[in-house]
Amino acid sequence: MSDYLLVLSGPNLSTLGTRNPDVYGTTTLDELVAATTLAAGRHGLGVRHVQSNHEGALIDAIERREAGCAGVLANLGAFTHTSVALHDALETLECPVVEVHLSNPAAREPFRHVSVIAPVVDGSIAGFGPLSYELAVEAIVRLLSEAPRTTA
Ligand code: DQA
Repeated sequence: MSDYLLVLSGPNLSTLGTRNPDVYGTTTLDELVAATTLAAGRHGLGVRHVQSNHEGALIDAIERREAGCAGVLANLGAFTHTSVALHDALETLECPVVEVHLSNPAAREPFRHVSVIAPVVDGSIAGFGPLSYELAVEAIVRLLSEAPRTTA
C-alpha cells in the first residue's frame, strides 16, 4: 500500500455503538473506521486500523508501523490518561500524530482531564463525535502539506 494513516483504538472502543450512547453516540467502530477511510482516501491515503484492549498490543502496532505510515490518529481511550508506555512509544514517531476523542474529556470527570500523551502529539481534537476523526485526517493532511514529507 502507498502512504497510509495508522488509526489506533484503545480499550473499550470496540463496543462503540452500544457503550454509553449518551456520551459516545451510536456510531460503531467499524462505521467510524469506514468514514475515516473515506476521508483519508480523498487525500490519496489508506487507513490501517488497530484496536486493542491491551496496552502492549498498541505499543506493538506503533513499533510495527511500516515505512508508508504518513500519520497516526490515536484514540487510546482510557490509556490516554494513564499510559507512560504509550507516551514513550508515540514519542518515537517522526510523522504527525493527532490525539482524537469522540467525547470532550476536559468536560468530564477530573481523571480524564490529564492526557499523558499530550506532550508527544502534534495536537488534539476532541468532543465532536465521529467528526473528530475527519477533522484529525484534515489536520494530518495539512501538517503533511506544510512540512517536508516525513513518514514514521
Ligand atoms: C475517549 C475518552 C476517554 O476518556 C475514554 O476513556 C474513552 C473514550 C473518547 O473517545 O471520548 O474510552 O477516548
